[in-house]
Amino acid sequence: MLLVGAAGCNSGTKTDTAATSPPEAPMAKATPAASLSKPTDWWKETVVYQLYPRSFQDSNGDGVGDLKGIIARLDYLKSLGVGTVWLNPIYASPNDDNGYDISDYRQIMPEFGTMADFDALLKGMHARGIKLVMDLVVNHSSDEHAWFKSARASRTSPYRDYYYWWPAEKGTPPARFSTFDVKHDAWQYDAPTKSYYLHIFSKKQPDLNWNNPKLRQEVHNIMRFWLDKGIDGFRMDAFQFVAKDPSFPPMPGLTERTFANAYNHGPHLHDYLKEINEQVLRHYNVMTVAEGAGRNTTEAMLFVDPARKELDMTYHFEGVGVGSGSATYKLTDLKRVFTKWDSAFARKGWQAIDLGNHDQPRMVSKFGDDRPAFRTPSAKLLNTFLLTMRGTPYCYNGDELGMTNSPFSGIAEYRDVAARNAYTQLKQQGGDEKAFFHSLARFSRDNSRTPFQWNASANAGFTTGTPWIKVNPNYVTLNEASEDIDSTSVLHHFRRAMAVRKQHKVLVYGQYQLLDAANPHIYAYTRTLGPEKVLVVLNFSSSGQRWPLPAGLQPSGATWLNNYPGAAPGGPALALQPWQAVVYHLK
Ligand code: GLC
Ligand code: CA
Repeated sequence: MLLVGAAGCNSGTKTDTAATSPPEAPMAKATPAASLSKPTDWWKETVVYQLYPRSFQDSNGDGVGDLKGIIARLDYLKSLGVGTVWLNPIYASPNDDNGYDISDYRQIMPEFGTMADFDALLKGMHARGIKLVMDLVVNHSSDEHAWFKSARASRTSPYRDYYYWWPAEKGTPPARFSTFDVKHDAWQYDAPTKSYYLHIFSKKQPDLNWNNPKLRQEVHNIMRFWLDKGIDGFRMDAFQFVAKDPSFPPMPGLTERTFANAYNHGPHLHDYLKEINEQVLRHYNVMTVAEGAGRNTTEAMLFVDPARKELDMTYHFEGVGVGSGSATYKLTDLKRVFTKWDSAFARKGWQAIDLGNHDQPRMVSKFGDDRPAFRTPSAKLLNTFLLTMRGTPYCYNGDELGMTNSPFSGIAEYRDVAARNAYTQLKQQGGDEKAFFHSLARFSRDNSRTPFQWNASANAGFTTGTPWIKVNPNYVTLNEASEDIDSTSVLHHFRRAMAVRKQHKVLVYGQYQLLDAANPHIYAYTRTLGPEKVLVVLNFSSSGQRWPLPAGLQPSGATWLNNYPGAAPGGPALALQPWQAVVYHLK
């Protein structure tokens, strides 16, 4: 049962770069005169704020967040100090999977607004020095995309090979696992052409056939369309899955736990990426990040080794995966995973740092302690962690306030296709309903998709109508307006940590060294760049801890960050409060 998003990556076929004229897409504009090499790796120094448009701000009372709503909050984004916003999909979509099922890649979802709203949003961001990264969802389209409508109507449609089909006369197709499907069957029989089509997500998300050069050309044109509007990059959804062997060799017995690795790095994935880079990306000064990093750090490096000219960074699932499916997690596991990924990219390549996103529960509920006494310090600690690691931090909207998991009562209050289909499956097959809801409460993706909590007025100031998903009732005390006027809030700490990161390159580029690896409560590390050295000490526990300083690490300089009032702990053994986080400048 998949309750949290999992997407991996695959690898693709031999590149056919022949510029076949795309049947539907307008011809790409001539390449802009922009330099062919990137002047700076700005994406290493930026902090990405992930914004979930459906839940950020509703401007017209229909209960759904929209682009005008975001425009109204641009000054808030600016006040955070973030350099880049990654917007979850805002394209036309029937919303089977909240916009990850796109029916037109060049249109804005009417619920979210118009292209004029988009242009105004981009302009407003750029005017404030904020870059905009869009989601690129091209492992699959919606079944309501014109390509698929045509493809399913006839075996001779020019769009037929944009998708994967298995004609029924060949018998049952070789088993493929679908994560969202009620029966976990990735083949859907389609009567009009007596064939099955492949969908590794829901049956409304048919997989696109990257073996087809015309399809790849379409994707390039879609990318150029948005890049020519001036956007600053792409987050490439489920990209490690896009490459598939069209002969469908047997893959029996796949499960929720094993399917991602099996689909990862299919044939020719890196050819497809090199082609994208050559045809599109190298002509723009933009950033790219792939969702999923491969099965290990070696595969992850293949995406981002600058010499290979593919992507800029990836984000792996091993960090957010720590403790998934169980009530507790071990700090030593978290340290091991983040340290392993850091060292893999220590000499070349780059990575994303994150603890949460729209496919995960809230980071404070998972990695911190969201009980009232500890929510504030633990949310501050987690933000301190994100903003003091090497790599580009990805901060998910609401985490700067310490927003928590949300209580839902019954399946009717859940919105996520993953949760709802898993429930249908449970009802059909029988199973422990109590355990199911217990797990959903902890891990459902809906936990992080509830409306942004702006203030204590009705619906947290998100909408004047009925919100598409229930507002977390804790908005009455946990909201942006009250944190904005409280200098001890998570929000103020976030802004301070942002400012510190921006000011000190040692936090961006400095070498990372884990200290006291076996300590079950303290995550401590140094960051070193030339003569500059910083010590980060994080007490990942809800009780006080004493931490003896390793020899030679006597803090003598300034304290850059401390999530408790008063002087930072000193002396040969630091006395740390529950969830205390301190950043010492050593020299
Ligand atoms: C990615 C997205 C997730 C979506 C899935 C299918 O994992 O992050 O939200 O459900 O891809 O597009
Ligand atoms: Ca709206």
